[in-house]
Amino acid sequence: SNPSLLILPGDGIGPEVMAEVRKVIDWFGAKRGIVFDVEEDLVGGAAYDAHGTPLTDETMAKAQSVDAVLLGAVGGPKYDSLDFSVKPERGLLRLRKEMDLYANLRPAQCFDALADFSSLKPEIVAGLDIMIVRELTSGIYFGEPRGIQTLPDGSRVGINTQRYTTEEIRRVARSAFELARRRNNRVCSMEKANVMESGILWREEVQWVHDNEYPDVELSHMYADAGAMQLVRWPKQFDVIVTDNLFGDILSDCAAMLTGSLGMLPSASLGAPMANGRPKALYEPVHGSAPDIAGQGKANPCACILSFAMALRYSFDLGEEATRLEKAVQNVLDDGVRTADLMQKEGGTPASTSQMGDAIVAALDAS
Ligand code: NAI
Ligand code: MG
Repeated sequence: SNPSLLILPGDGIGPEVMAEVRKVIDWFGAKRGIVFDVEEDLVGGAAYDAHGTPLTDETMAKAQSVDAVLLGAVGGPKYDSLDFSVKPERGLLRLRKEMDLYANLRPAQCFDALADFSSLKPEIVAGLDIMIVRELTSGIYFGEPRGIQTLPDGSRVGINTQRYTTEEIRRVARSAFELARRRNNRVCSMEKANVMESGILWREEVQWVHDNEYPDVELSHMYADAGAMQLVRWPKQFDVIVTDNLFGDILSDCAAMLTGSLGMLPSASLGAPMANGRPKALYEPVHGSAPDIAGQGKANPCACILSFAMALRYSFDLGEEATRLEKAVQNVLDDGVRTADLMQKEGGTPASTSQMGDAIVAALDAS
């Protein structure tokens, strides 16, 4: 049967960028004979408007049964005053939690045509291609005890707990080593084993997975604060970085800015292997619903299109087709086609959301 894909466009610019992904999906069907069974459904504010909940049980069940989920973005000012239990982001959190997506993949890849956009000197980022793997379902954002307590003297204390089990560390380490084998065979693990017990366990368990299961992959360890420095000083020294939820949150945002615009950044969240051997997976752009530009045809669809490229590679074993799509995006950028967020002083050819999508499809045609 055909590979199956659940598309959840969501809110704001989500549906606008997803419309461009649909053009790409149609192209793969028509020109490469790669046909996906695509279902589309609601998430976030759009689902709340229709059903009074940001994710229905039916949609959740569909997400569990398909090969991959592709999500646009959720949220917007219209929903800011809603009760926390039905806020749009709860839809996304439910997907991540129930699919148990513990490995968050955040590539930081520099398109040469956009090297001027980096916060760093072009020579430091040109050709950059690294992958940060962040543990997504445990650690200090979830550990118990947590809360704000009032002490006998009336002062208050805020408490969060960093807690990692052996298995939580081992499974995300495996995700990182698997990725490294498909890339340049190097993993750098980051923690604070110098001051945190969870960091000591993290280092020991990552090393254990390496020694017992992935001895062929080169493994190094770095303290996360030193890692932050190295990431900005000379990012090309890294291939795959694996780290916990908190450090990964910060390091992946930092790495994102090495490469420029939010409109270019894809992501994947992977869980345990399914019966077919491929991981449960949700793909989404890093950006949000961008209410400030929604409905104006200004959104850059590249982040969402590149998220689909990640789906081709990691959920459908179509690495060559993923590379073809990434090259098409690169060629369009090299030709100077620019959505508003990518306009530079020297100019370029201004493009709307749909013109950018059309240009990428034309580049695919030429590939
Ligand atoms: P945002 O990522 O939506 O926008 C930040 C800035 O980047 C805005 O100026 C926006 O116009 C611009 N931008 C974002 N994506 C772009 C694209 N593809 N092309 C061109 N410009 C783009 O973050 P913000 O403004 O903090 O949040 C807006 C809403 O999105 C909120 O409701 C927030 O909760 C939600 N959000 C949802 C996320 C998700 O669905 N995963 C992630 C982040 C925020
Ligand atoms: Mg963050």
